[in-house]
Amino acid sequence: MLATRQPVLRRFWYPAMPAAMVDAGPQPFTLLGERLVLWRDADGKYAAMADRCCHRSAQLSKGWIDGNTIVCPYHGWAYDGAGTCVKIPQRPDSAGLRGTAVKSFFCEARYGHLWVALDEPLAPIPDWPEEIDSGYRRINQFYEPWNCAGLRLMENSFDNAHIHFVHRNTFGDINNPDPPEPTIERLDYGFVARSDVPVYNTEEQKKNLRDDSAFTVRHITAHWYMPFLRRLHIRYPSGLDHIIITAATPVGDGQSQIVQFCFRNDREAEAPAAGIIAFDRRVTAEDREVLEGTDYDVPLDMHSGIERHMPSDKPGLVMRRMLLDLLATHGETEQTRHPSRRAAE
Ligand code: FES
Ligand code: CO
Repeated sequence: MLATRQPVLRRFWYPAMPAAMVDAGPQPFTLLGERLVLWRDADGKYAAMADRCCHRSAQLSKGWIDGNTIVCPYHGWAYDGAGTCVKIPQRPDSAGLRGTAVKSFFCEARYGHLWVALDEPLAPIPDWPEEIDSGYRRINQFYEPWNCAGLRLMENSFDNAHIHFVHRNTFGDINNPDPPEPTIERLDYGFVARSDVPVYNTEEQKKNLRDDSAFTVRHITAHWYMPFLRRLHIRYPSGLDHIIITAATPVGDGQSQIVQFCFRNDREAEAPAAGIIAFDRRVTAEDREVLEGTDYDVPLDMHSGIERHMPSDKPGLVMRRMLLDLLATHGETEQTRHPSRRAAE
């Protein structure tokens, strides 16, 4: 599937960047191949618009904010948050304003990040109760571009077999390679998978978990939100909750912006955020190392013959099936650069 060629994927919310970045001034961001400018007006209202002035195509993200408008750096045309041009400095009589606008998109601030949908969203931004629960803290972990398809990272997140190989130096147990199968319950725009996964505890992780055992069984409840968002709730036997939200926001077909934050029900004094980020960062760097070499055109049809499968691939295969169904519901077929199976036969 080539994400930029499936219009229905424009109808989902994606976290584009930490809100603090936009607080510093207008920022460019590319979502599904669409070049955007994200900005915040003087009243604190956020907006996402096409990053192309309709005069001579300058990037508005190189401009500045003036009250409730964003000003183009080239000749000073000013636009409001709906994308309407409200001032042309060279035409003080307002002549030429009518119908002058750039496209605007859906934009909301949640969980300390700006979320954008390019077309009418099919599902809301998920509600995660920990955000307003004083028993939890949110830690913004990282924000970085990866050269891989979002679907590859989503499948990886639910693939218990990769843990013992990719993460053999952090928490995997290479001598125990066949993982328990998760149970999968389908939801409207995604699913929830549950499993108990025994993992190895390094010295560093023993400190983060305040647990001296060599092995711990992670009780995992993982949500997949179509198409490229997941919530991984790890509950440790001690009652510690480590809830990781990871988005692989689609920049292009082979590029994703990784946005990750977590919720924890322990205190900074017990487990400093810096240590938690460092461990999770090392784990995701291990995933990145493998995922960046994978083909970004993930075949959705499991019978295409392009990839072989094993039982632990089930969550990823359910994703592929559900995405195929989504495309069909919206009158689309999978866009791919792989020759079709029929053509190959
Ligand atoms: Fe934007 Fe001229 S290009 S004002
Ligand atoms: Co991994």
